[in-house]
Amino acid sequence: MNKILVIGAKGMLGRDLIPELRISFPEDDLLEWDMDEIDIRKKGETIEKIESVQPTVLINVAAYTDVDGCESNLQEAFLVNSEGMSHIAQGARRCGARAIYLSTDYVFDGKKNSPYIEEDSPNPLNTYGHSKLKGEEVTLALGEKGLVVRTQWLYGLYGKNFVTAILKQVKEKWKAPEANRRLTIVDDQIGSPTYTVDLSQAIVRLVQRKASGIFHVTNQDTCSWYEFGKTILKFLDIQGIDVVPISSSQLNRKAPRPLYSVLSSEKLRREIGFRLRPWTEALKDFLERLLKSGGWTG
Ligand SMILES: NC(=O)c1ccc[n+]([C@@H]2O[C@H](COP(=O)([O-])OP(=O)(O)OC[C@H]3O[C@@H](n4cnc5c(N)ncnc54)[C@H](OP(=O)(O)O)[C@@H]3O)[C@@H](O)[C@H]2O)c1
Repeated sequence: MNKILVIGAKGMLGRDLIPELRISFPEDDLLEWDMDEIDIRKKGETIEKIESVQPTVLINVAAYTDVDGCESNLQEAFLVNSEGMSHIAQGARRCGARAIYLSTDYVFDGKKNSPYIEEDSPNPLNTYGHSKLKGEEVTLALGEKGLVVRTQWLYGLYGKNFVTAILKQVKEKWKAPEANRRLTIVDDQIGSPTYTVDLSQAIVRLVQRKASGIFHVTNQDTCSWYEFGKTILKFLDIQGIDVVPISSSQLNRKAPRPLYSVLSSEKLRREIGFRLRPWTEALKDFLERLLKSGGWTG
């Protein structure tokens, strides 16, 4: 019998992961913790609370995810993303539990030009990437009990993400004079948009298989943010907005991003026999769910 403890359960991924775990582990205990239950920045409290419930599996989806914010709050980034995971890993060790850490494509520098595999050397360009890489290291130090799942470009129903940001901007542009109804979107960063429900299903498979080490998990196929944005508008049949490609340097954000950070999911297919569908199919499903939930009324 498993006792699964999810930390960060109220975040975007956490809220889609919980129902998938319930479906796949109906007989097992499932604990959902977030900031109200635990602050992973606090070492003593984190280890003690974990020990008090004796989980067999710990899934950490809590993080400081504001990539530009991490650049100005370096200390907080490392406290949550690196030390927070170290505290969780220490708790896991005391209980003999497996620990799973969600990580990111931003551990890579984007200079490779072909999909990154798990063995490729990380070289983060920004503080968020550095802090997540440290979190990976403490997880992998658990050996057979540690699993790192790298993913990217997440969107889901329950958090701020690219899809919700684009739709918010569309609403604003509709109110603007016709000549100003244009959206500028970066066209020189390439990745794979990934739906939190699909990622959650892969996490479930990895838990079932007691996987360890590193696994890359994203929806299949690739695009730029510009292509992703255009596809959202196309699928929702949004008219009257001009979408204009720009370069990352024109956007001038605080944290540099890798230009090409596609993650190969080949290992997931080979070792677990599982693969996520193409991102366009996942996006269609998500947008239908968004419409049904009243999250987009156009
Ligand atoms: N979003 C992406 O595009 C993306 C891409 C690659 C990898 N990832 C990784 O995937 C995981 C899930 O991301 P997400 O987008 O679902 O994140 P999210 O929506 O920002 O959720 C993170 C959750 O963690 C909680 N949290 C923050 N600091 C905490 C602390 N000190 N103690 C306990 N809980 C804390 C947050 O609570 P508050 O809201 O109250 O702060 C929030 O509920 C993260 O590990 C992230 O690094 C995300």
